Amino acid sequence: MKVIVTDDYEIMSREAAKVVAAEVKSKPDSVFALPTGGTPLGLYAELIRMHKEEGLDLSKVSTFNLDEYIGLPLNHESSYHYYMYDKFFNHVNVSEDRVRIPNGLIENPEEESLAYEWAIKRAGGIDLAVLGIGRNGHIGFNEPKTEFGSLTRPIYLAKRTIEANARFFGEDPDSVPRQAISMGIRTIMNSTKIILLASGAEKARAINQTVHGPVTEMVPSSVLQLHPDCTLILDEAAADELEPSANGFVPGPGTRTMIY
Ligand code: GLP
Repeated sequence: MKVIVTDDYEIMSREAAKVVAAEVKSKPDSVFALPTGGTPLGLYAELIRMHKEEGLDLSKVSTFNLDEYIGLPLNHESSYHYYMYDKFFNHVNVSEDRVRIPNGLIENPEEESLAYEWAIKRAGGIDLAVLGIGRNGHIGFNEPKTEFGSLTRPIYLAKRTIEANARFFGEDPDSVPRQAISMGIRTIMNSTKIILLASGAEKARAINQTVHGPVTEMVPSSVLQLHPDCTLILDEAAADELEPSANGFVPGPGTRTMIY
């Protein structure tokens, strides 16, 4: 597993944007899995800048979001639909008919999940999955004990995740949905390339377990050790509990790369 440790959140976001931009340049019709949450905000901002100032062309990419809450209206400010358009899609030239986010309002979430898997297959599979990570090691909304063989499906959120996400629900933290539709671990692991971003001390333990811990369903992100092309892009605080690596090098200012 490759780990890029950056001096701060801004450099972390820029490094991640470079990976996304390189993917688009080498394959303009790349298929992406995209995350939400606080962590990727800097990445989206940098991609918007690259689009506006450097002509990064996203017109042919397809995107699949990792997850969406069940039961929130699409225009609810805390829905992942709202987030993705507000923070990213409204500011770049991604074509709307190539954007897919699970529909958490549909009557039958099982059917929606199946259709989602088929849509990913029809698009040719995911070329690059961009992930965040929960404090308990969840990826997408795959909470501890999720089977590694899981595909897109409706899930119940862990108590810790509901608490962590309450900050996005302002006045009424009790309104955080209890359920979501999430890509499965196998859906994510089938991606050709994966990058995972983490920032801040509250992620340090999960990152330690992701890199050094046993590969166990108790820490969903630990499965990434088994992926042939996975890179973690971290800031110093998130990397704080990592053992030093014997195979380190410094590719440029503000970053160092380690291979585990
Ligand atoms: C949510 C999302 C995850 C995300 C996680 C971390 O649970 N479903 O995809 O990685 O939050 O969010 P943050 O980046 O805000 O810490």
